[in-house]
Amino acid sequence: MNVGIDLIHFSTSDYYLGLDAFAEEKNIDVDKFYIGIGQEKMSIAPPDEDVVSLAAKAAAPILEQIDKNSITAILFATESGVDQSKSAGVFLHGLLNLSSRCRVIEFKHACYSGAAALQMATTMVRANPKEKVLVIAADIAKYDVDTSGEATQGCGAVAMLVTESPRIIAIEPGSGYHTEDVMDFWRPNQRKTALVDGKYSTKVYLHSLKQAWQHFTEETGRTFDDIQHFCYHIPFTKMAEKAHQTLAKVAKVKLSPQEFKAQTLPSQVYNRIVGNSYSASLFVGFCSLLDNLNENMANRRVSFFSYGSGCVAEFFTGLMQPGYEKVLMSASHRKQIEQRQPLTYAEYLAFYHEVDDEVENIEFERHNKGPYRLAGIKDHKRYYQTL
Ligand code: CAA
Repeated sequence: MNVGIDLIHFSTSDYYLGLDAFAEEKNIDVDKFYIGIGQEKMSIAPPDEDVVSLAAKAAAPILEQIDKNSITAILFATESGVDQSKSAGVFLHGLLNLSSRCRVIEFKHACYSGAAALQMATTMVRANPKEKVLVIAADIAKYDVDTSGEATQGCGAVAMLVTESPRIIAIEPGSGYHTEDVMDFWRPNQRKTALVDGKYSTKVYLHSLKQAWQHFTEETGRTFDDIQHFCYHIPFTKMAEKAHQTLAKVAKVKLSPQEFKAQTLPSQVYNRIVGNSYSASLFVGFCSLLDNLNENMANRRVSFFSYGSGCVAEFFTGLMQPGYEKVLMSASHRKQIEQRQPLTYAEYLAFYHEVDDEVENIEFERHNKGPYRLAGIKDHKRYYQTL
């Protein structure tokens, strides 16, 4: 039985900060960002956008195409959840008016949780083909101002419908994984922003890739040449380039510059202008590959490398399904990205500091253009609005 992603759609916020404006403000050569880390823009969430509104925006176009009462579970992956107890997925369940015959749970492990939720969903469907699982990976990446991570912020959500006989990609059984208790990126409960040992985190990422790859080859017997397209977790696109160089080296494969570009660039187009979206970032990369590769990928193998600091990593693969191109929502992805409004550095800072969801009561000014927004907090309870 084939199990995998039947439909996929991603969302991002209505605003961005260009790294040209950022570089000017900080008096840094812009090529450090354009070339050095490979980023151009960061999607910025206004105060009335959170992972729930981003997730609703990602999921709604999928639900329009199916009987939404057939969803049997929501697996919501996030590092930037909205409540210490209640799952962000239950807020989403309410906002989208889904059936009560549905289970909802939140997944957490930094940027790895999206892959964990997808793998859990495939396991559920293999056990019971009647399951239709809505997997959400949604995050707002936020670091302290004037730290090395500030230029790598961003936000986004990816919704994936996981079913049997999927129309887009069948996830293959067998994967390689690696876990190690390290402190490269973390966020203590009292903090809104992540702490990071930046350079160390890039080293642990690459070490984890080697370990997960080794395990993957032992488990599946597959080689580098069995894979046609490579998707990586993309905190910034240069990291994915370094990952692919590392993988090719470990697999003892020599790639021409053209082959290297062909294998990596299409999956980086969106991340370069959206920024990091933690748990969603790997799947934003997959959407980017689907929307920007001008070749038919039917029957080709795509690999996914997920890395969550702290750290847990996994390498797995899927097979593209014939006819997948007919169900892509590329136009919606492009429209959202193109319609974003640029912010000055001062406007970005105002959004950055205005988020005050610790207060008991607040009504947020309307910045989010919809279709879903966080309207306010009343008696410590979040409430949302459909526009
Ligand atoms: N022109 C061209 N290139 C330039 C340049 C210029 N003018 N100025 C600098 N560069 C290059 C540097 O040579 C360097 O290249 P290499 O990495 O190839 O050596 C690159 O730009 C970055 O420069 P620095 O190392 O000086 O940059 P930095 O000190 O500001 O930090 C960083 C880089 C540590 C990655 C930082 O962006 C950071 O802390 N990011 C957040 C953490 C992160 O994303 N880690 C990734 C792995 S962890 C993970 O993946 C989980 C997650 O999502 C967080």
